Amino acid sequence: MLAVRRFLRSPNPFMNGHAIGFPRGTPSSPRRWLRLILTIAVIGVGVNILFFLDPPFVEKLPGQVLGNQAFHPKPVAPVPHGHEAQDAANGQDYWLWDTKSQFYKKENIDWNVGVMDECFLFPKHLTRKKVQVVIKTGVADDHGRTNAMVSTVIKCIRNVLVVSDADHKYGGWNTVDVLADLPAKTYMTEEDYVIYEAQKNATRDKKELHQGHEGWKIDKYKFLPQVERAIQHNPNAEWYVFLESDTYLFWDNIFRLLDNYDASQPYYFGSPAPGRKYRPDQGSELEEQNWFAYGGSGFILSTAAAHRLVDRPRNSLGVKGARLTTEYQEDIRNDCCGDSILGYALHDKAGVEISGLWPMFNPHKLEDVPFGQDYWCEPIISLHKTDPGPMKDLWLWDNDQRQKHERPLLYRDLLFGFHGNFSQRENWDAAFDAGFQLDDDSDVHSSLEACEAGCFSNEECWQYTWHGAHCYYSRALYIGRYKESDGYHEEIDRKYISGWDMNKIQTWSVKNTCEEGPHWVKPSIKRKY
Ligand SMILES: *[C@@H]1O[C@H](CO)[C@@H](O)[C@H](O)[C@H]1NC(C)=O
Ligand SMILES: *[C@@H]1O[C@H](CO)[C@@H](O)[C@H](O)[C@H]1NC(C)=O
Repeated sequence: MLAVRRFLRSPNPFMNGHAIGFPRGTPSSPRRWLRLILTIAVIGVGVNILFFLDPPFVEKLPGQVLGNQAFHPKPVAPVPHGHEAQDAANGQDYWLWDTKSQFYKKENIDWNVGVMDECFLFPKHLTRKKVQVVIKTGVADDHGRTNAMVSTVIKCIRNVLVVSDADHKYGGWNTVDVLADLPAKTYMTEEDYVIYEAQKNATRDKKELHQGHEGWKIDKYKFLPQVERAIQHNPNAEWYVFLESDTYLFWDNIFRLLDNYDASQPYYFGSPAPGRKYRPDQGSELEEQNWFAYGGSGFILSTAAAHRLVDRPRNSLGVKGARLTTEYQEDIRNDCCGDSILGYALHDKAGVEISGLWPMFNPHKLEDVPFGQDYWCEPIISLHKTDPGPMKDLWLWDNDQRQKHERPLLYRDLLFGFHGNFSQRENWDAAFDAGFQLDDDSDVHSSLEACEAGCFSNEECWQYTWHGAHCYYSRALYIGRYKESDGYHEEIDRKYISGWDMNKIQTWSVKNTCEEGPHWVKPSIKRKY
């Protein structure tokens, strides 16, 4: 005790006797000075050794002692338009913005087919300064998928950041292993690290990796570091656009959308999904729901939101908070999904809530989009789970359409662009999984003709699929997909035959021409998939 007293009374320049209740010390002897310096040196060396052994541990210390919130900027900005913007005064769920395409027009340049491709029309200047594109993939990504992506959605963008779970090629790009400097070995759970290492070993041994590999299990670890990387790579971008290797993005509509928002406000756009529950008030039992942007549909962070998430401001004593990834290490380990944790960290650290823009950001495949009530006059921004074939078809269509309209592409255009114009199609499944069925004893299950007639006379039925001597109806318009005969029925019943109620479609589309303008939906978490 005495030693401690003597130590505290030594003339530490940061303390004075009054503050800690000791009488002002007399001028001290050189021995005391020496002891103080030695102590500081020992602590210093200790901390440094610890740092080399376990940097995240040291990094986490201040946050653990003072609480992580001590290092966070105060959540100043609520969602700029308010979370429930759709309930706003005029009662409308959308804005009718008058937007302009940023793409060049073919007729304005000396077009020379064979020498020039669609990239001559792409507004490349925007993807250098204004928009940073970040694509997330894995070393086990399917080659067909990779090829489709690099020859379509990111084909015209010079400055793409490709993040992955290993260093490898992604078309002509080099990926960044964002797990390497976490570092993966101590950051992930042991089980997950084995997957990471096994993938690396397989690549080293030149073994083929397949989508079926367990790579998806370590995907969740990439979400936070990809935002850190994006900032490091291009700190001055106004917007950061994140997508996955099977996300189709409609760039023209993205640029039009972003033109109407201010990047100095903290925005987090995407298709909202319910995430974690949290207690806003420590003492209370009351839980609130956090919302995050579903990763597969792509999402966008404004520079304000991204910096608030990643930057490490110092507290009043000048101590830096932990790296984003370090702070949420435990959360990531324990959660299933990276997009959910990203949404939570944006809320918890940066005070940013999602501005939900469903259905413009869309979690469906092209074949499964339920066109109709919800998907019609809205500009289309993203499609998820796009297979290589449709991805190329979409790209061709997208580029072609832009030459035809001044206005943004809408879901309505997409339906008519890909639906074709036919009333019935064989080996086609358009309503088998989705929708509803009439009772087993209903007459509609007696024949294909009865199934069709039943659909036409049923107010809710837009299309039908006949398969296995059974009739399936759907309440929305699906493009559907090719499907070979299957099942154990009579030969004739194994086929999938789908039909559309062309009358209803015609009537609906005449009533809903979207003439008043595209519906740029307002941010909301009430309107959701
Ligand atoms: C990867 O290779 C290293 C060295 O050959 C080996 O020690 C390690 O166990 C391998 N890891 C896995 C998960 O296969
Ligand atoms: C589909 O074809 C019918 C008859 O051939 C025609 O009357 C109709 O306008 C067409 N619809 C579309 C959307 O092309």
